[in-house]
Amino acid sequence: MSILVTGGAGYIGSHTCVELLNAGYEVIVVDNLSNSKKEAINRVEKITDRSIKFYEMDILDQKALDLIFKANDIDAVIHFAGLKAVGESVEKPLLYYRNNITGTLSLLEAMSHSNCKNIVFSSSATVYGMNNISPLTEDLPLSTTNPYGTTKMYIEHMIRDTYHSDNNWSATLLRYFNPIGAHESGTIGEDPKGIPNNLMPFITQVAVGKRDKLSVFGNDYETHDGTGVRDYIHVVDLAKGHLKALEYTLNNKGVEAINLGTGTGYSVLDMVHTFHHTTKQPISYEITARRPGDIATCFADTSKAKQLLNWETELTLEDMCRDSWRWQSRNPEGY
Ligand code: NAD
Ligand code: UFG
Repeated sequence: MSILVTGGAGYIGSHTCVELLNAGYEVIVVDNLSNSKKEAINRVEKITDRSIKFYEMDILDQKALDLIFKANDIDAVIHFAGLKAVGESVEKPLLYYRNNITGTLSLLEAMSHSNCKNIVFSSSATVYGMNNISPLTEDLPLSTTNPYGTTKMYIEHMIRDTYHSDNNWSATLLRYFNPIGAHESGTIGEDPKGIPNNLMPFITQVAVGKRDKLSVFGNDYETHDGTGVRDYIHVVDLAKGHLKALEYTLNNKGVEAINLGTGTGYSVLDMVHTFHHTTKQPISYEITARRPGDIATCFADTSKAKQLLNWETELTLEDMCRDSWRWQSRNPEGY
C-alpha cells in the first residue's frame, strides 16, 4: 500500500515515515524543504533500511501534484506540509493563509482528480482557543488566537465540507498537543531554524551551550507551581498514532477529529526539573513576563483516541527528555 506524506522531511513527518516504512507501507514524500533538510529523508532510510520516493516540490503546484498521483497508485495521504510558527503567522498572515490553506486546497483538488479520498490531517490543539477548560474533548467549540491556528481551523472546515459534498471521502483530523522527543537512534529530531519558539528545543539548546538561559514565561498562572501546563507527547508515540489513524481512515468513511496527547499536563518547571534529573544537565532559567496569547493549562481528553483508534501513549516524560537530549547532543547544529 502506498502513502503520500506531504511535509515528510519535517519533524513529525520524518518520525511518521519511520513507522510507516517499518510497518511495510511504500512511502512517497513531497516536501519543498522550506523548513527541513533532505538529510532527514536519508536518515529515515538508514534507520529503516528502506527507500522513500522523494519529490522536492511545493504542494501549491497542483499540476505537479496531479502528475505524482498519476505516476503512483496512492491509497491515502498524510498531510503534514504547512508553516507552523505562531509569531511569524501574526507578522505574515497572508503567507500562512496561502501556504497552509491554498496548499491544502491544491492537495484536496489533486486527490479529487485522482479519486484518492483518504486523508489524515495534522491539526492542532490550538483550535481549542483560549476559553475551553482542560481536559479538552473533541466536541468543544473551536476558536483561535492567531493566523496559524485559524489556518488549522479553516482546513478542518474545508475537509468536512468536502466530505459533506461527497461521502466517499474519509478523513481523520489529528489534533496534536505538544510533540517533543526524538527517535531513539538519535539521528532524527526537531531542527528549528534560529531561536526556538517552543520549550523543549530551547531547553536542549541551553543544555548544549547554544543559549544562555531559559526564560520561563510567567509564574503567576493558576497551576500547581504558577508556570504554564501542557500535554507533552513523545513524537514516536505521535507517529504511531498516525499509523492507527491511517488504518482507521482506510476502513471508515466520514470525518473524525481526534486528540493525540497523553492526557497529563506538566508545568514548565516540571520540564526543567525532569530534564535535569534525567540527563544530568542543569538548566539555567529566569522568570520573565507572560508570553501574550499563552493560556495557563492545556491537556487532552484522550478517550476518543483510545476508543476509535485503540491507541494510547507508551513513553514517559523521562523518555521524552532523554531522547530530546540524545538528538541535540549528537547533532548540536541540527542536520
Ligand atoms: P515541520 O516544519 O518540521 O514540518 C513541516 C514540513 O512541511 C517541513 O518539512 C516543510 O519544509 C514542509 N512544507 C511546508 N510548506 C510546504 C509546502 N507548501 N509544500 C511542501 N512542503 C511544505 O513541522 P512539524 O513540527 O513536523 O509539524 C508538522 C505538521 O504538524 C504541521 O502542519 C504543523 O502545523 C502541525 N503541528 C505541529 C505541532 C508541533 O508542535 N510541532 C503541533 C500541532 C500541529
Ligand atoms: N515556554 C517558556 N519559555 C520558552 C518557551 C515556552 O516558558 O522559551 C512555556 C510557554 O509559556 C508554555 C509552555 O512553555 O507554557 C509550552 O510552550 P510551547 O511554545 O512549547 O508550546 P505551546 O503550547 O505554546 O504551543 C504549541 C505549538 C503550537 C500549537 C500549540 C497547541 O507550538 O503550534 O502547542 O497545540 F498551536
